[in-house]
Amino acid sequence: MTAAVIRAVGLGKSYTTAAGLFPALKGVNLVIEPGEFVAIMGPSGSGKSTFMNLLGCLDTPSIGDYFLVDRNVAHMPSDELALLRNRTIGFVFQGFNLLPRMSLEDNVALPLVYAGTEREERRTKAGEMLAKVGLEKYAKSLPSRISGGQQQRVAIARALVNSPQLILADEPTGNLDSQISEEIMALFTALNQEGITIVLVTHEPDIAAHAKRQVRFLDGHIVSDLLTEAITSQSRATTTC
Ligand SMILES: Nc1ncnc2c1ncn2[C@@H]1O[C@H](COP(=O)(O)OP(=O)(O)O)[C@@H](O)[C@H]1O
Ligand SMILES: [Mg+2]
Repeated sequence: MTAAVIRAVGLGKSYTTAAGLFPALKGVNLVIEPGEFVAIMGPSGSGKSTFMNLLGCLDTPSIGDYFLVDRNVAHMPSDELALLRNRTIGFVFQGFNLLPRMSLEDNVALPLVYAGTEREERRTKAGEMLAKVGLEKYAKSLPSRISGGQQQRVAIARALVNSPQLILADEPTGNLDSQISEEIMALFTALNQEGITIVLVTHEPDIAAHAKRQVRFLDGHIVSDLLTEAITSQSRATTTC
């Protein structure tokens, strides 16, 4: 049996605030298998980003365990964790997070610098990834030369450069208009069809509909976990009645 990509067991996070401890995530259980495409939904403040930061090993949980491809990372030393994160996960953020003074090629190659890949191979791989998202002709340009949608494509190329098993994307279409958002979602769908597991946060039902499964958060809890197919047939039934 292949290992689940993600297994969260009673995973919780409390933040220290002036008013005391604030429980943002309250003991969440979730298993995501290889090849899944999951949308994390829920209103602002429901704990989606807190959960994604734990999944991405960008933050440590207050309670519970988190297994990333069967490795319990909740108590892993930080250098080991950084290596595992770099090899396993590609990140995509709402604000693209490209470095403004670096060419697109160098932006895409950045995770390879941390992985210790030598220069020529970095350039080749970055070029391949830019070609994959249709932007190879901009390899030497700066991020400011291209549109927001194109910048997000470059960010996706950067997320792919280490051949990750998992892509985590927190509101990747939050800064994009609806047509460009559809194009970005088509790209995620194509990557998922190649076998990459995708977990994506959105509060827009149209965006979530591209995923195969939708998990909804409210007040730090998971309140529903449904296949998109079940959601669409349910809404079809409601419209017909
Ligand atoms: N670093 C932090 N310190 C204190 N409170 C935080 C911090 N990050 C998030 N929160 C609080 O935790 C709750 C969940 O936040 P978040 O995970 O960002 O929700 P979402 O992504 O669903 O909007 C919110 O009430 C937010 O104000
Ligand atoms: Mg958020």
